[in-house]
This record gives sequence, C-alpha cells and structure tokens, in this order.
Amino acid sequence: MRETDIVSARCRVALLGFGTVGAAVARRLTGSESGPPPAFHLTHIFDRRAPQKRALLPAPGVTWTTSIDEVLHSGADIVVEAIGGVEPAAGWIRAALLAGTSVVTANKQVVARDGADLLTLAARQGRQLRFEAAVGGAMPIVRAIGEGLAGDRITRLTAILNGTTNAVLSQMEATGSALDDAVEDARALGYAEADASADLDGHDARAKLAILCGLAFGLRVDPLQIEARSTAAISQADFARARERGATIRQIAYADYDRTTRLLTAWVAPIEVAEGSIFARTAGPQNAAVITGVHSGETGIFGAGAGGDATAVAVLGDIAAIAKDRSAIVPSPALSRDFRVRSSDFRLDCRLDIPALVEAL
Ligand SMILES: NC(=O)c1ccc[n+]([C@@H]2O[C@H](COP(=O)([O-])OP(=O)(O)OC[C@H]3O[C@@H](n4cnc5c(N)ncnc54)[C@H](OP(=O)(O)O)[C@@H]3O)[C@@H](O)[C@H]2O)c1
Repeated sequence: MRETDIVSARCRVALLGFGTVGAAVARRLTGSESGPPPAFHLTHIFDRRAPQKRALLPAPGVTWTTSIDEVLHSGADIVVEAIGGVEPAAGWIRAALLAGTSVVTANKQVVARDGADLLTLAARQGRQLRFEAAVGGAMPIVRAIGEGLAGDRITRLTAILNGTTNAVLSQMEATGSALDDAVEDARALGYAEADASADLDGHDARAKLAILCGLAFGLRVDPLQIEARSTAAISQADFARARERGATIRQIAYADYDRTTRLLTAWVAPIEVAEGSIFARTAGPQNAAVITGVHSGETGIFGAGAGGDATAVAVLGDIAAIAKDRSAIVPSPALSRDFRVRSSDFRLDCRLDIPALVEAL
C-alpha cells in the first residue's frame, strides 16, 4: 500500500475546541507525543482563538480555523466536540450529524439535555454519536452500562462522578484542612476551575447521573429532577463524627429504579461511606461506580475522573470505536418519561445501603 493510500484510509477527524480536553486529544491524534503514528488524521481544529493557539501544536497537516462552516463542510468522518456548555455546542453537534458526520462529545450538559434526540438524529443519518468522556473521564462507565452489562437489568447505581469534589473531600480527610483550603489546593493542582460551585453543589454530578439513568433504566431524566445537596458546608467536625463511626465522607450520586412502581430514587449528596469501601478509597480526582444488576450482581469500576489527558483516552476510545465500523448504526434508545422521582430522607450520617461489594473491598 502506498503512503498516500494509507493516509486516505485513515479516519479523518475534526476537532471543535482547543482547551484542556481538545488540546490533549489533538496531541494524541497528531502523534506529537511519544508513540506510534496514529491511525487517524486530524484535519481541522476549530477554536475561537485559533490564530493565537496554532503555535501550541506543531502539526503541519492540520488546518486551524475560526469558521464552524469550514469544519462542517470539510468532509471529516468524525467531529469531536470539546467546546463545553450547552449552546452553541448542541447546535454544532446537530449540524455535524445533519452534514453526515459522526460525533464524539465530552459534553455532559448537552448529552443530559439533548442526548436522546441527538442519538435519534444520528441513527436516522446512519451516523454515530458517542459520549464516553461525558461521564467519568477515563472510567469507561458508559460502555460498561451500555454494552458490557446491556444483557442485564440494572437496578441501582452508586457512584462518585465528580473528580473535583472528590479531590476536595479526600484532601480534607487526609490533611485535616478546611474546605476552602482544600478547594484552593485542588485549583493549584488543576483539579478545580475558578468557580467550583457546580461541582461542590452536585450540579455536575447530577447531569452525569441523569445520563446514566437513561442508559441503565431507559428513563428520560431531567437533571433538575435529581435532588442535589451541596458539599460546600462540610467541615472537619463532620469528618470527626464520621470517623467515630468508622466512616469518611464522599459526594455520592445514587439512583435506583423500581420498574414495577415506576419509582426512581435519585440524589447527589455528601454522605458517610464506610472506611475501606471502594468509595472511601477513591481519592483525588478519581471516580468510582458500583452498578447493581439482577443477574450480574455488583460490578465495580474505578478510574481517572478528570483531566485533559485522561479524558482524551475516552475520546480516543470513541473515535476508535467509530473508525472500526463507520457504517455501524447505534440504535437510539426509546427513553420513557412515565416515572416518578423521589429523593431520600437520608442525612449526612445516614449510612447508605451500600452494596456488599463496596463493604468488602
Ligand atoms: N477538563 C476535564 O477534566 C473534563 C473532563 C471530562 C469532560 N470534560 C468536558 O469536556 C468539554 C471541554 O472541557 P475543557 O475542560 O477542555 O474546557 P476548556 O478548557 O474551557 O476548553 C474549551 C475550548 O473551547 C473554546 N471555545 C469555547 N467556546 C467557544 C466558541 N463559542 N467558539 C469557539 N471556541 C470556543 C475555548 O476557547 P477559549 O480558550 O477562548 O476559552 C477553549 O479552547 C466540556 O464539555 C467538559 O465538561 C472536561
């Protein structure tokens, strides 16, 4: 095979957004880091500050642009959306699918709000929409639920889904520091943004939990239906009380679904978890989840929940999955709106009915 044939056989990828995640994806796709040349060809990078940023990536074959239309008409096989926020990102994902391009996104807000509609559009267009990076960073929970455990009936999800809050709480536990100081440390390490309130207040985790409820239970859950209790007021006194009971504190995202009564229990909150459990052992910006199924019992999963390089792993995995079978059509889920939601009347010290796997680990 000639060199030109190899290049044209590569999957052509265009990237929207050259920030934390986008830059890490671009580095991997251009092989500007060590490793063998990638099987993909990064053709375009779209960013509002493309002229200033192009010097950051030495990649001669890449076109930098501030024109979304140039990307949409570029003939790319896959558009990677790493812009963030709801709009214009959602509109651009829709436009890419309508232009006949498969899409990989890291955007939990868009997937939580429009995921079902976009998946339907993708299937209608004979293209794919993949979003592993939108939940859990490098922890492959979307695939675990959507594919690996697809043969089971999932009844419960218990998870740490926000790396920033986990970094803050595990730092408070380890050093005895106040929450504000732990947030500062998380910022210094690049684990927290300038405004960490969406993380601490549970809004980030509930968007991810809403996505998982769609995958696991087939429900169309609006993130606002999920009660989120803030972690912002957790103090060292709370940790001391937890320690007396052989526990520590983590922000847990929880959902269980009773298919008979169509009752979804879902919440995000800081709660006590047993010392030695998978959740207590989840430190720094890590994520973890225990998925409970009727036949499979409890399946645990653990991994890097945030960071550009870790998140790029999930994006690259989605790109590889599409490249492997570009004609594959992922059936769009028929998500039900026919259910009731409740939170629970738990308190911080109310020990969750934690799955046995968690207690055992
Ligand atoms: N960071 C993580 O650890 C992580 C983990 C999992 C998922 N995610 C998700 O990944 C996505 C990207 O996150 P990120 O951390 O990489 O964000 P980021 O660092 O802010 O990067 C976003 C990039 O998009 C550019 N951009 C924003 N709005 C634009 C617009 N209207 N037109 C053109 N360019 C625009 C930004 O330009 P400027 O530089 O000018 O702002 C920036 O380069 C989000 O959906 C996020 O939730 C992030």
